[in-house]
Amino acid sequence: MTPIAPTRILIVGGGGREHALAWKLASEPGSNEVIVTPGSDGIAREPRVRCVREIDPLDPAAVVAVARREAVELVVVGPEAVLAAGVTDALREAGIAVFGPSRAAARIESSKAFCHEVAAAAGVPMASGAAFRDLDAARRFAADLAAGGGDVVVKAYGLAAGKGVTVCDSLAEAETAIERLFATEPAGTVVVEERLSGPEASLIAICDGRDAVALPLSRDHKRLGDGDTGPNTGGMGAYSPLPDVADDRIGTLLDAFQRPILAELARRGTPFRGALYAGLILTPDGPVLLECNARFGDPETQAILPRLAIALGPALLAAARGDLRAVLPAAVMADGRLPELPGATVAIVLAAAGYPEQPLGGDPIEGLDQAAASGALVFHSGTSLGADGSVRTAGGRVLSVVARATDLAAATTAAAAAAELVRAPGLQHRRDIGSAAIAATAAR
Ligand code: AMP
Ligand code: GLY
Repeated sequence: MTPIAPTRILIVGGGGREHALAWKLASEPGSNEVIVTPGSDGIAREPRVRCVREIDPLDPAAVVAVARREAVELVVVGPEAVLAAGVTDALREAGIAVFGPSRAAARIESSKAFCHEVAAAAGVPMASGAAFRDLDAARRFAADLAAGGGDVVVKAYGLAAGKGVTVCDSLAEAETAIERLFATEPAGTVVVEERLSGPEASLIAICDGRDAVALPLSRDHKRLGDGDTGPNTGGMGAYSPLPDVADDRIGTLLDAFQRPILAELARRGTPFRGALYAGLILTPDGPVLLECNARFGDPETQAILPRLAIALGPALLAAARGDLRAVLPAAVMADGRLPELPGATVAIVLAAAGYPEQPLGGDPIEGLDQAAASGALVFHSGTSLGADGSVRTAGGRVLSVVARATDLAAATTAAAAAAELVRAPGLQHRRDIGSAAIAATAAR
């Protein structure tokens, strides 16, 4: 009989999301060793986790060679760039089970125009918008949206990790953003969209090509500054669950978003096996899809994996093999979500000085042990070990600290306290992750 729990797993990537995946998968029954490539010095400190550092994760042949050499039963791909490089296709061709969509299916993230096309065919609501190769046409479309009383969002066409988006407050701002993107965007294509408003929610589902089962809902904080001010970033913090969208609505949301998209991708001959992330905005007229990602979110993963009451490895392996129903109980499949622990989590991202424009690196970080001793989980996104053994900043997003508690208010307080314990020159973090949700709950 084929095994249900993978004993040896290879994770491709090296950020906070991959650290959280390694932490979770290495702690599960049946797990023998988790290997992360290229991983990081920080991830390598995790028990029963080993990093294979000198590998280019964008080189399909190199990743296949590591998977073979390490005799892994499952490969889990973290970053979008690895999907876009065709690594999952090469692994599948080599007969290795991989959790992560093919390059063709991952276009749901790598091409915003493809996402709009699939969503339209699947009957999934998105903001009205279009992709432009011509500056004047983009300007005219923005002016039309503004004339209709709406605001405008301007987006880079290709992969930008959430950083290529300008949410504009005026037509003048939109025009500046359009001109700037046309000057810098390598694909020469810019997306202009109607601006929607409402709180956001990240719904991430594990998909086997046909079926989907979701992880707990969470909410990212994309802007750099407190109160959602400043530039968009890759994500500055997340919490779970959401006080305004109970997790028992997940089945209905899967019916509206992931399931129709899965059916449409399968119909086109590109079934999606991996994490399908729906970035939703909860407008007064109902939830609308802002974007799809073809992978787990970062920092959402750091916040939601500690909330799971079930081993993740068997579900990922079953999804990779195309048959979630083979391992998940019928009640879980019918519910549409993996069983959750009670309580709440808050993840706060600590970013380097200069992030997101020009992050600085090489500064020593203090207080990591104190933060861990406070009960927080500390996941490494961009750190390295100095020659003297000290942990140093080495990336835009450097760390995330995650607190678990009985409710959101207690988790917010604990995460904030843990974040204050970690110090490095210019290290920045938001001080309001979770607070808006608590205030909204109190006001009800
Ligand atoms: P995206 O990379 O498309 O998810 O965009 C990043 C962030 O920009 C989203 O999480 C939203 O906060 C914001 N955003 C994107 N599109 C829109 C839109 N049409 N209306 C309002 N905000 C948006
Ligand atoms: N946190 C948003 C993302 O992973 O794209």
